[in-house]
Amino acid sequence: MNIARVFSTMALLALGINANAQTEHVFEIKTEKPGADIPKTMYGIFFEDINYGADGGLYGELVKNRSFEFPQSLMGWMTFGDVKLRDDGPFERCPHYVRLAVCPEASKITGLQNEGYFGIGYLKNARYRLTVWARVPEGGTAKIKVQLIDQKTMGERQQYLGESDITIDSKDWKKYECYIKSADEVEKGNLRILLDRSSAKVDLEHISLFPTETFNGDENGLRKDLAESLKELHPGVFRFPGGCVVEGAELGSRYQWKNSVGPVENRPLNENRWLHSFDFRLFPDYFQSYGLGFYEYFRFAEEIGAEPLPVISVGLACQYQSSNHQPVDLLQPYIDDALDLIEFANGDPAKNKWAKVRADMGHPKPFNLKYLAVGNEQWGPEYPARLEKFVKQIRAKYPNIQIIGSSGPDSEGEKFDYLWPEMRKLKVDLVDEHYYRNEDWFLKSGNRYDNYSRKGPKVFAGEYACHGTGKKWNHFNAALHEAAFMTSLERNADLVRMATYAPLFAHVEGWQWRPDAIWFNNTHKFNTCSYYVQQMFSTNKGEFVLPLTMNGKPVAGNADQDGLWASAVKSGISQIIKIVNTSDQPQLVSLKFNGKPKMNVKIEMTVFHSDDLDAENSLENPTLIKPTTYAGNYSSTDNITIPAKTFMIVRFPEDRIIIH
Ligand code: AHR
Repeated sequence: MNIARVFSTMALLALGINANAQTEHVFEIKTEKPGADIPKTMYGIFFEDINYGADGGLYGELVKNRSFEFPQSLMGWMTFGDVKLRDDGPFERCPHYVRLAVCPEASKITGLQNEGYFGIGYLKNARYRLTVWARVPEGGTAKIKVQLIDQKTMGERQQYLGESDITIDSKDWKKYECYIKSADEVEKGNLRILLDRSSAKVDLEHISLFPTETFNGDENGLRKDLAESLKELHPGVFRFPGGCVVEGAELGSRYQWKNSVGPVENRPLNENRWLHSFDFRLFPDYFQSYGLGFYEYFRFAEEIGAEPLPVISVGLACQYQSSNHQPVDLLQPYIDDALDLIEFANGDPAKNKWAKVRADMGHPKPFNLKYLAVGNEQWGPEYPARLEKFVKQIRAKYPNIQIIGSSGPDSEGEKFDYLWPEMRKLKVDLVDEHYYRNEDWFLKSGNRYDNYSRKGPKVFAGEYACHGTGKKWNHFNAALHEAAFMTSLERNADLVRMATYAPLFAHVEGWQWRPDAIWFNNTHKFNTCSYYVQQMFSTNKGEFVLPLTMNGKPVAGNADQDGLWASAVKSGISQIIKIVNTSDQPQLVSLKFNGKPKMNVKIEMTVFHSDDLDAENSLENPTLIKPTTYAGNYSSTDNITIPAKTFMIVRFPEDRIIIH
């Protein structure tokens, strides 16, 4: 009995698929001559504050407009009784605050209430920390009651999930805090603050509410479940903070990292570039608090073991939205931002102001920054004209920093063809390519990198996703196409040194762009099929490419390859083969290692498949489609059936005979 056959039949039965494959496809894998190294950075993540990915998402803050700095100062707040807005607060760059006074009419209540981002999510028995800067401007003592509430309840009384008091007794601004446990889970709660009738006048500023259990345990931390999803991707590189938000809808709203570091209370507000992007999905309350700023990004990269890869403005606003550019001869402040960022990340606090900011924030050791991207999706001669200036000064001062340039917003065409030679001329280290393309493009792109020049910059596949024709959601079929294409990235790891799917996050009520890797509401999340594909690659990355061919050619979904795609890697003493079958027929594969099948070996197989190609995971059914791993003994690799529309990873954890 051929155990391989039995094993694969077991897997197929588990999939509800009848193996009926006819033609044998022989994959030749050369283990004796490993090819290129696969860098640590090969599979990473790209984070952008789009779809409420940061404020309202990954950033743990639950209060919207906590510093009253939105252009409409009380956006997100409802006030009642005697509440007045003032603008001479203690934080220079966030000067607004509110003054609360008891109403003369005994029947009236003074207070304010925050709506959060699409409501505030409270989890049963979770603890929340409220912090507020406050003072009693005219002396005396003030008492405020802080309540976590569910105003939407149909019950007789509004549900108070928990409450606590704070007493303010100083004429000077001070930070106060209280802890509240939520008695229940509510997806769309509110935060309410009531002024006690016996109180003196009180000023409140920077009213902030976080779960005590953040990802890293920090007071200014990240939402745990979302950050964990990222960690579980085992990313090798972390690109941030965008995307188009780096560029800004106009230069004034570009991401300015210097505004995103230092005490959170004094980080100025920035309008999010995605606020105005689409009038058909408009979110007028989309601003960046910068609470999740560059220090937090660097820390997160360190905590998840990824190389930080910041992107900074090249002095061009988003070219889709504006022709507002910084003149080349006035570019120095932008270049200084780049140079100072390198110091912020790597510099000596005793010698550099920005390195000292890092140290003062709690990280005296350097972050060991190695990569810096200058510009996002730029195009036209205006880009190299500016990039050149950055390259010169960065190279002169920091020759070890790898610089990443852009090939524009398209996967090919005029802008792309113009920029690649320019990037070569400028000798950038990597060129960032973006492709949000349909199934057809992915099917035809299996050999994209096989024939790229190996001289000059390497490739960073910085943003990509399969956008299904007429199916712009995270269905299984899109993920399958991404998996297929990724085998071609892996095979070309000598050239493609980094790849990051995009975008990462989307709030189910606040998205502007889809598909995305992880969706969430205020209390729950789900990982999409595309997420699982990323995870399958990153957790089976290996250290070296193993040459894998069929009839002497790479297996890249070509016309004569029956929808098969494959790559192989060496990981320690293991070999890992990734095979995708995009055809609608099962395909029979024979794995030959240096000309021979493996006989009597231990094997692990991870299978990713859905009978329904349009199906997707959801909040209601978060793990409808996910990979399954089988382990067993395999008598011969001569005969493996890859079911139709399936991504399969075959691991040979040990290269030794186990059955005699
Ligand atoms: O990922 C969404 C957007 O796509 C990014 O901001 C931009 O770089 C690209 O156009």
